Amino acid sequence: MNITYLRENNSFKLDTDNTSYVIGIVDKEGFIGHAYYGARIPNEDVAYLMRINENPLVPSLNERDRSSFLDTFPTEFSGNNVGDYRESSIKIRDKNGASGIQLLYRAYRIIKGKPKIKGLPETFSDEANAMTLEIYVEDANLGIEGTLSYSVFNNSDAITRSIRIKNVSDDTIYLDKIMSMCLDMDDDNYRMLVLHGSWARERHIEYRKIGYGKQSVSSIRGESSHQEHPFIALVGENTTQAYGDVYGFNFVYSGNFIGQVEKNQFNSLRVVMGIHPENFAFKLVPGDEFYAPEVVMVYTNQGLGHMTRTYHDLYRNHLMRSSFLRKSRPVLINNWEATYFDFDNEKLLDIAKTAKECGIEMLVMDDGWFGNRNDDNSSLGDWWVNETKIKGGLKKLVDDVNEIGLKFGIWFEPEMISPDSRLYRQHPDWAIAIPGRIPCRSRNQYVLDITRKEVRDYVYNCLATILKSANIDYVKWDMNRQLTDISSARLEADRQGELMHRYVLALYEMQERLIAEFPNLLLENCSGGGARFDPGMLYYSPQIWCSDNTDAIERLSIQEGTALIYPLSTMGAHVSVCPNHTVGRVTPFETRGNVALAGTFGYELDVTKLSKEEKEAIPKQIATYKKFNKLIREGDYYRLASYRENNYYDCYQVVSKDKSEALITFVQVLSQPNMHSIKIKLQGLDDNKIYKISGSEESHYGETLKNAGLLIERLNGDFQSKLIHLTEQ
Ligand code: DGJ
Repeated sequence: MNITYLRENNSFKLDTDNTSYVIGIVDKEGFIGHAYYGARIPNEDVAYLMRINENPLVPSLNERDRSSFLDTFPTEFSGNNVGDYRESSIKIRDKNGASGIQLLYRAYRIIKGKPKIKGLPETFSDEANAMTLEIYVEDANLGIEGTLSYSVFNNSDAITRSIRIKNVSDDTIYLDKIMSMCLDMDDDNYRMLVLHGSWARERHIEYRKIGYGKQSVSSIRGESSHQEHPFIALVGENTTQAYGDVYGFNFVYSGNFIGQVEKNQFNSLRVVMGIHPENFAFKLVPGDEFYAPEVVMVYTNQGLGHMTRTYHDLYRNHLMRSSFLRKSRPVLINNWEATYFDFDNEKLLDIAKTAKECGIEMLVMDDGWFGNRNDDNSSLGDWWVNETKIKGGLKKLVDDVNEIGLKFGIWFEPEMISPDSRLYRQHPDWAIAIPGRIPCRSRNQYVLDITRKEVRDYVYNCLATILKSANIDYVKWDMNRQLTDISSARLEADRQGELMHRYVLALYEMQERLIAEFPNLLLENCSGGGARFDPGMLYYSPQIWCSDNTDAIERLSIQEGTALIYPLSTMGAHVSVCPNHTVGRVTPFETRGNVALAGTFGYELDVTKLSKEEKEAIPKQIATYKKFNKLIREGDYYRLASYRENNYYDCYQVVSKDKSEALITFVQVLSQPNMHSIKIKLQGLDDNKIYKISGSEESHYGETLKNAGLLIERLNGDFQSKLIHLTEQ
């Protein structure tokens, strides 16, 4: 990694192991141009790439065509209402109600390490392993200053970007829009890869053609959402897993976002990513600063797989802070699909006893243990244990579970309030609602206005009191509805547009407090399944519940899309019963276990009701989990085949960092008649090592397995699966 200022041509060059990013300062006014992002190049003048010597030339040479210049110039951060008609990166309202803004270059600083982004999750590093370029910018007419920050990391092809804005004028200014990044580049026939979905169908990979005009992914739901994901990749025409160009952009934020690609009249692309401007307006009184969240960019010409592994490594080394990141997580059993709301301490202890016999290590008590909650119509906010269900109280239950030999985990939904709750009867104004309008219910609940300190203190203290009252090792932090009726009883009229962002900041503050006060707690985030699975949340919790869909076959696409960016060790994945509760499908117990192995691994079923064979299978599955968890958690992930593409089978591989072993997971979805074995070309092995292949007498060079491939025999029946372990001889 390196960052250089090239004085002769007033440009900055950021280098990662395999990529370069060049920013050029142009013309007397100091337009901040984007010259290059791609495979690594030498230190030389590449300002010509900005086409500033072509018509319409720069404004100092041709002021009459200033707008033509601004409307084509590749910029690092587009202004608004001053001549560039492509997407703006920032929009303000000044004291006259005008919106013109253009941030121009003033100075720079190159430093070791990476300064903190106040209040927000972010990649971090010590001074030895990262460098940061700060470009100081200004709109002198408005009295607005800004800092564009870029960081590079040792042994990584990722570059992070963010921006900070300060009002240094004497007047109040409203920030109506702020993107965290803007990147202009030529279109080389890229396709746009996005992750779209729905409840129980999260993060399915979709390719889109990039047409003229704007195409985007976004959420205005108050969370990153089931529906779209804060991620875009531009993928070359012929790019595969192993070859070709990919530009990835991932937003480290858990609220409203937009990621947009715009193809303009000259076939160039503008990519922007940031907080969604809808319902957003932040008031900046003189002296106020606004920190925009970070975007993680990855370029590679080595295919999607290299992009994936770059994100995985960056997030494991520079984003996730939990001490559990590098530990095997306890194999848990969660009672949600086992009992839903219908349980008591006796039922839980029955589950715990049988679970213990099977080798399971932790019982998680899900929704329904508090207030008067026997279905999803009441009690959110009433965080005291329901003693008619949990007779003798929570401590007694936890002690009993511990006595059986299991750890204990508990579910909360801290951000919510049920209209039918004691909390709502006492504090109806704590729910987010527009004055005079009955707020929109979803799952019969409202969202708490956690932007109010007294509200988040109340909820946090409820949580902390429960956690201190018994020996609790794990918390599942759920969020089961999206935001509407955006208005806070505490914000002034001209600050209502701050609520959505303040909500996310408040959530982060609560989670920071929780992990600081309970450093040994294993925290799993969740949102009605996987609606808040994003890098922001991974800063606080090492794992996130991936989806409410626990069907092994449905999980193939969900986990493929999720693992495109996020390490396998972050994906909450459990074995559940069949017929599956979401899709009614019946799959072999073995396949359910093999698919859940790619995540955190656990069970979500009533173990007391399993057949003898299934119960006997659990200790074997747990032994497999223990055997392979370090490899899966810390190894390099390679996607070898996708059921989404071939309609036949799915296959992925994890290779240890030292390339001494690898695990291949093969799932044959629908059996086909009269077919040969399947040839799969392996990736990531050491060419010169000889690998022994489990389940056979064969051994082959890594180079042979890469170029010639491995034959996997056809399995008999639908939904069959197989693990193949390769070990260095
Ligand atoms: C949604 C979660 O994803 C489920 O696992 C479960 O915890 C329910 N909420 C409980 O209401």
